[in-house]
Amino acid sequence: MSTVAIFLIFLLLLSRSKASSNIGVNYGQLGNNLPSPHRSIELLTTMKAGRVKIYDANPEILRLLSNTKLKVSIMIPNNEISGIAANQSIADEWVRNNVLPYYPNTMIRYLLMGNEVLSYNSEQGHQMWRDLVPAMRSIERSLRAQNIRDIKIGTPLAMDVLQSTFPPSSSAFRSDIRDSVMVPMLKFLDQTKSFFFIDVYPYFPWSMNSYNISLEFALFRGNSSRTRDPGSGLVYTNLLDQMLDSLIFAMAKLGYPDINLVISETGWPNSGDREELGANTINAATYNRNLIQRMTTKPPIGTPARPGVAIPTFIFSLFDENQKPGPGTERHWGLLHPDGTPIYDIDLTGKQPMKDFAALPASNNNKPFKGKMLGVAAREVEETDLSENCT
Ligand SMILES: *[C@@H]1O[C@H](CO)[C@@H](O)[C@H](O)[C@H]1NC(C)=O
Ligand SMILES: *[C@@H]1O[C@H](CO)[C@@H](O)[C@H](O)[C@H]1NC(C)=O
Ligand SMILES: *[C@@H]1O[C@H](CO)[C@@H](O)[C@H](O)[C@H]1NC(C)=O
Repeated sequence: MSTVAIFLIFLLLLSRSKASSNIGVNYGQLGNNLPSPHRSIELLTTMKAGRVKIYDANPEILRLLSNTKLKVSIMIPNNEISGIAANQSIADEWVRNNVLPYYPNTMIRYLLMGNEVLSYNSEQGHQMWRDLVPAMRSIERSLRAQNIRDIKIGTPLAMDVLQSTFPPSSSAFRSDIRDSVMVPMLKFLDQTKSFFFIDVYPYFPWSMNSYNISLEFALFRGNSSRTRDPGSGLVYTNLLDQMLDSLIFAMAKLGYPDINLVISETGWPNSGDREELGANTINAATYNRNLIQRMTTKPPIGTPARPGVAIPTFIFSLFDENQKPGPGTERHWGLLHPDGTPIYDIDLTGKQPMKDFAALPASNNNKPFKGKMLGVAAREVEETDLSENCT
């Protein structure tokens, strides 16, 4: 057999061995009708998810995950941040109680400090802002003391950390957090080779400004609608890239051009209470299918500002969650109904050609785009609170 043939067989085996996808799913539990953790994890495995992110360190879930190949992201709740920042033994205790019993059999890879902490603009929130990076450092020390090196520490933030996002090259962090929180945080992420975890939803800027942002651009169908950033000369064919690059430019302005991104949440609502604009099954399916295809392409596509760099991505969310507060769309981000059946067909591996998906009903709540392409005002995103389990 020739070396070429052997090499080809090797490649084939390599591709076979990576059966599950690199795509992750957020497993939120704010529903009173959801399947058991056992069944939920079975569903994630059947769907070939590569990663799962939970909003706490639920012992039952972490125990069950030890029997899977899923890479796991766990979260320290917001109300524990200040204690951990103040006292190293509280950090050590957290790791002892919530990581050591499950690791390494449960493949914990990301440990997230709080959820969208910098979106809480209250006195209590401001205390959390001050404690956020010190708490991340404390947990890092605890992990290092246990000789654990493959768990990255981060904190998922919303797009409202940016003052302005358009054009991407002109973006910047909010002035109230830039020097006090973002500078030390970026330094920490850089030193520890961790990631900037961003919750990024093109749905929100689009739904708040559908007059000036085309649906095609938000759903990755934007061949006809491109925008050019006059500052950088970069051309954008979709809103997600534009939002991600605004974050990359903001980090570069503070002297950190190389911190990699993880999309800790993204998605599109499949319904609402009252025919909310654009919240329908066909748009949700289109967004998530196109997203998965982009994020599983090899070699990675990246973004215009950072071509070729992979971005691990978690879709929000596994189930429709009927106890999420807020507008009707909040309760309809799921890939699955609470009974475990799919809301629309989805292939997390990104291998299924688009034309092989069964046709979906046409939407009746997409308002036609009339205006001229404009950017996204970051502040608009703030109004919608996507945080889960925040106390
Ligand atoms: C830190 O926490 C530990 C354990 O909870 C406690 O025993 C100790 O008194 C605390 N130290 C300070 C300085 O608060
Ligand atoms: C759309 O853009 C135009 C300027 O081109 C602006 O006057 C208008 O206010 C924008 N509409 C919305 C809804 O933002
Ligand atoms: C986008 O347009 C280019 C030519 O401008 C074409 O080659 C390509 O197939 C189009 N892609 C899609 C997804 O329509």
